[in-house]
Amino acid sequence: MEIIKEISLMQARSNELRLQNKKIGFVPTMGALHEGHLSLVDVAKKHSDIVVMSIYLNPTQFNNKDDLKNYPADLEQDFRFASARGVDIVFCPLSEDIYPKGFQARVEVDGITKGLCGATRPGHFMGVATVVAKLFNIVMPHKAVFGEKDFQQLQVIRQLVKDLNFDIDIVPAPIVREKDGLAMSSRNKLLSPEAREKASIINRSLEWAEKEVKSGEKSAKKIISGVGERITGTGIGEIDYIKVCNLNTLDEISEISSPALLAIAAFFGNVRLIDNCLLSTND
Ligand code: PAF
Repeated sequence: MEIIKEISLMQARSNELRLQNKKIGFVPTMGALHEGHLSLVDVAKKHSDIVVMSIYLNPTQFNNKDDLKNYPADLEQDFRFASARGVDIVFCPLSEDIYPKGFQARVEVDGITKGLCGATRPGHFMGVATVVAKLFNIVMPHKAVFGEKDFQQLQVIRQLVKDLNFDIDIVPAPIVREKDGLAMSSRNKLLSPEAREKASIINRSLEWAEKEVKSGEKSAKKIISGVGERITGTGIGEIDYIKVCNLNTLDEISEISSPALLAIAAFFGNVRLIDNCLLSTND
């Protein structure tokens, strides 16, 4: 596996691969790799000849300094995992190269970032859109894979690519779960044993909601309160938001018509976890 740190070398390598008619698949990450990230590599491999993974803990998308400080990092382990899974090139730039002195540009995607995580993490999606736009210009992939766990991020990136005419296909990849259903996340490592055990309620409450909607429940309010009671009922889970949204615009809806997105962000201890599912009616 090649490891590239310099932006100019990554661009030169991508240009070379493109001249050789190789299809470049891209998996952007912030490191602390787990099976969720590695499943994105599997998807990228199916769609391309060469898989490039970036590992860059992007400070501008953290609206909370402690969250950034506590974010797990183990670059050597990341290299081992990425290489074992068949990543061809890891791009791991330095922060002073990504945001050199005097850096002034910002990429902002508007409407779709207003709700959900955009409402409770101000500035987060501007940080994401800016760094992803930079990474796209550096790696110049044909395809880029984003996980559905960060569903709003996936939609923000789709909008970014459409509005700014990036010639890149965005490929979604399904959520990967632990045995007890908890969605895989780098933040899971930060959970206390009690919080870790109780956090599996998130997926169980999503499953409950899916069943309710399948059996005819149409009220978003009832679904939201049922999910909320289950999460707070653990005694440790605190709701950041629970919303039922239009799948494309992410606007909140009150009556569930198929398909809708149920999205959750909740704190277990001081660790913020997100998850979501599709609600489909039987109509
Ligand atoms: O999903 C992530 O890990 C990050 O938001 C991303 C896309 C790598 C941008 O920093």
